[in-house]
Amino acid sequence: MKVTVVGAGAVGATCADNIARKELATELVLLDIKEGVAEGKAQDMMQTAALLGFDTKITGSTNDYSKTSGSDVVVITSGLPRKPGMTREELIGVNAGIVKSVAENILKYSPNAILIVISNPMDTMTYLALKSTGIPKNRIIGMGGALDSARFRYQLSQHLGASPADLNAVVVGGHGDTTMIPLIRLATWNSVPVTKFLSAEQQQKIVSDTMVGGATLTKLIGTSAWYAPGAAGAALVEAIVRDEKKLFTCCVALEGEYGQKDICLGVPVIIGKNGWEKIIPFDLSAEEQALFIKSADAVRNMNDVLSALPA
Ligand code: 2OP
Repeated sequence: MKVTVVGAGAVGATCADNIARKELATELVLLDIKEGVAEGKAQDMMQTAALLGFDTKITGSTNDYSKTSGSDVVVITSGLPRKPGMTREELIGVNAGIVKSVAENILKYSPNAILIVISNPMDTMTYLALKSTGIPKNRIIGMGGALDSARFRYQLSQHLGASPADLNAVVVGGHGDTTMIPLIRLATWNSVPVTKFLSAEQQQKIVSDTMVGGATLTKLIGTSAWYAPGAAGAALVEAIVRDEKKLFTCCVALEGEYGQKDICLGVPVIIGKNGWEKIIPFDLSAEEQALFIKSADAVRNMNDVLSALPA
């Protein structure tokens, strides 16, 4: 297996580090536009191999896409991260051009690659990658829901005094502070609904803290978070390369599912060797369905901005 991570910033490097530690690839390429950064970080990670005991061969490259040739999975993290007070949506102008050119260059050398999109605004960048490359929809996966669901499980674990591993909980909809929908009604603690243990106020707090999970960290750190985003990217790579058929909520192309079409949005999907293989229909309540429509409308408005940008 060959995996490429484009963007050797904090998210890309953390994602690569997780991929190497888990030996998800025999070859791992880190690519960045900043001279020497990808090479340096790749070498730094390779120097952990003796300590951590992995065999993945990591190499770095400054913008030479030929080095990524024949990749099975490519994680795209390129673009600017958000600064405190900024929404993910404000990054669209700069990041759209970057993501489009990265996706096109990658496919020149790895025409069969499955693309995992992390760059923000993630829902719109996933849609852009789908539209600009025209590759089959199952090979384009936006990572947002995988990350937001992990943050939701963290918030639940704090309130319940439970292990996040014992919690089953997903976030659907967009990957935005106001567009994501943590489905607390469906969340369980070892198959018992979490709502049984939490007051209405606690539930509301968990949902709203999950929604601003990324913004809270951006404010504390001064830039966008990287440990959980990187780990979420690597978890998706793992599900693909090990053909796990694992359920994640990911941003994928909808063609009528969940009542939406011509949009990429977070829904429960099965991830395996073919990328996202199947959309799982959850029965949303009328209230959740209304939130999903609102989320889709907001993401669609953002997607419309793309057509106003220079080609
Ligand atoms: C976050 O939520 C990177 O969008 C990402 O932290």
